[in-house]
Amino acid sequence: MSRKVIIAGNWKMNKTAAEGKALVEALKPLVADVCPDVADIVVCPPFTTLAAVVEAAKGSNIKVGAQNVHWAASGAFTGEISAAMLKEAGVEYVIIGHSERRQYFGETDATVNQRLKAALAAGLKPIVCVGELLEEREGGRTEQVLAAQLTGGLAGLTPEEMTRVVIAYEPVWAIGTGKTATPEMAELTHNFIRCTLNDLFGKEVGEGVRIQYGGSMKAENAGELVAQRNIDGGLIGGAALKADSFAALIHNAIAK
Ligand code: PGA
Repeated sequence: MSRKVIIAGNWKMNKTAAEGKALVEALKPLVADVCPDVADIVVCPPFTTLAAVVEAAKGSNIKVGAQNVHWAASGAFTGEISAAMLKEAGVEYVIIGHSERRQYFGETDATVNQRLKAALAAGLKPIVCVGELLEEREGGRTEQVLAAQLTGGLAGLTPEEMTRVVIAYEPVWAIGTGKTATPEMAELTHNFIRCTLNDLFGKEVGEGVRIQYGGSMKAENAGELVAQRNIDGGLIGGAALKADSFAALIHNAIAK
């Protein structure tokens, strides 16, 4: 089954509205040659930068995502943003359960699951992050950890809902560290994730789910990573913060 590549830039807590607009304006001509049926290009700015980036991306092949979403429709949840608010802002994708949210903000598989359901109900396209810590990999527990994150995070989804979800596999030890899993090591883990999805949702659905790799992906290693059978794109932090490095990464990822 052929799955369309998806490259998403996670800007994290970087770029004001003016800086985000400038980045998208610079990126647009550099990726204008990428056909929308070959790859989805997504940028995920902070909440306050979303409106400027949605405006700047209009009419281009660049799509916009948020970095988090709350599960409730509205209410007394200081500091949170609902799915309807994101939809109204013109957002299409949303990252859920990034390891930094798990590590610093108490995100669990249960809260990932609640956020995911709210995102799906609102018609957003969720990018659900999973990944093991260094000590979990070294202790031989990678598969156990990922199986628990997938089973808990995706609990209660129908197979139809699962077709709208993207998974991002990000080994936590590779995020922002310059350490990347080798393409072979990443592929083995992606294959495990694929098998788990097949078990949970049936082979027809599992084979269609796009699984991104994340963690120090850059122009230099994107090609060999995305060439792996079960690696369908990337979730990019540092290398997505400059137009030229992000554009080069995108081109290398889709070069056959
Ligand atoms: P990195 O971050 O590319 O800077 O390692 C990836 C991520 O956290 O999504």
